[in-house]
Amino acid sequence: MLSNRLLTHTQTMHVQRPSIQTRPLSPMRRNQITRGATIQQQKPNCRNRGSTILAGSLPKCGCPACGQAAQSSGQQPSLYQRYFAQFMANSVEEYESAAHPWKVDLFSRLVKGRPTQRIVEVGVGTGPNFKYLAAAHREQHGQEQQVSSERQQKEGQQPNAELQGLEIVGCDPNTAMQPYAKQAAVDAGLNGAVSLLQGRAEELPLESDSFDAAVVTLVLCSVRDPPRAIDEVLRVLKPQGRLLFLEHVAASWETQPLLRAQQALWSPIHSVLADNCHLTRDTKRVIAEKRSNFSDLMLIEENLPGMGLVSPHIRGIAVK
Ligand SMILES: C[S@@+](CC[C@H](N)C(=O)[O-])C[C@H]1O[C@@H](n2cnc3c(N)ncnc32)[C@H](O)[C@@H]1O
Repeated sequence: MLSNRLLTHTQTMHVQRPSIQTRPLSPMRRNQITRGATIQQQKPNCRNRGSTILAGSLPKCGCPACGQAAQSSGQQPSLYQRYFAQFMANSVEEYESAAHPWKVDLFSRLVKGRPTQRIVEVGVGTGPNFKYLAAAHREQHGQEQQVSSERQQKEGQQPNAELQGLEIVGCDPNTAMQPYAKQAAVDAGLNGAVSLLQGRAEELPLESDSFDAAVVTLVLCSVRDPPRAIDEVLRVLKPQGRLLFLEHVAASWETQPLLRAQQALWSPIHSVLADNCHLTRDTKRVIAEKRSNFSDLMLIEENLPGMGLVSPHIRGIAVK
């Protein structure tokens, strides 16, 4: 994604460290969960050693050694990763505002009829979807809980994740995204319900059949192996679990040949500048090839107006 904006942005790029701390946690802090500064017991043999929890409740990792905990890799994000996180935090307003009606609709469908949800967001980035999850959840649960959560926040308390019935695990390989995602969780009133993990879509550090829903937005364009990423999402979803997807995709040669040619021209440089984001990914085909793994699939193909090279989109919900 990002196309024109990114290309112009990078011409005047100043690489700065995000103002919020992005250093890996010290060994002592690694075991400290920011929600109420809970001290987490270390589980040295956990297979999720590469994970960092920065906010919220613990993900229930199903690894044999642990079952509940995860740790930081202690690896510093690169300068490039910091730049990209800062870019994503500050430069996607136009995209977000264009995609807003789609997101409202998708997240509402995702949560509808499901009072308690354990949700994984793969490639969570800076957390722009947290507010949609929160809003959809509140809509589902009625005004009463919203008022109670707002009152708790006003009084400086963490909203009770159990009461809200919502638990979100955000997974991303770029730990420089985490301070922004953490802030987005707080802004959405979800600070007690969000855990952030370092991990790749192709190898999710999460147990099988453990999530009610998964969210993947603007990620399949960047992962190295999209079919494997979808397999992993299917693995961690419970039966009947829902996958929300929203992705920019390759334009059709038949209906938009000029745009498709431009995408082909820019994609190599774009992928270097935008963290391996490909303009020409045929994600619709990737999902269609997995059709037999879904019990139901809603897929809408539509251009997002004004988004230039990343206008062509697919969005929808797939049910395991
Ligand atoms: C364009 S950003 C989108 C972030 C967020 N989902 C959104 O909608 O704004 C792409 C995200 O995918 C992440 N990413 C890249 N490769 C990944 C992989 N193999 N597995 C999971 N996430 C990945 C990046 O770190 C980045 O946060």
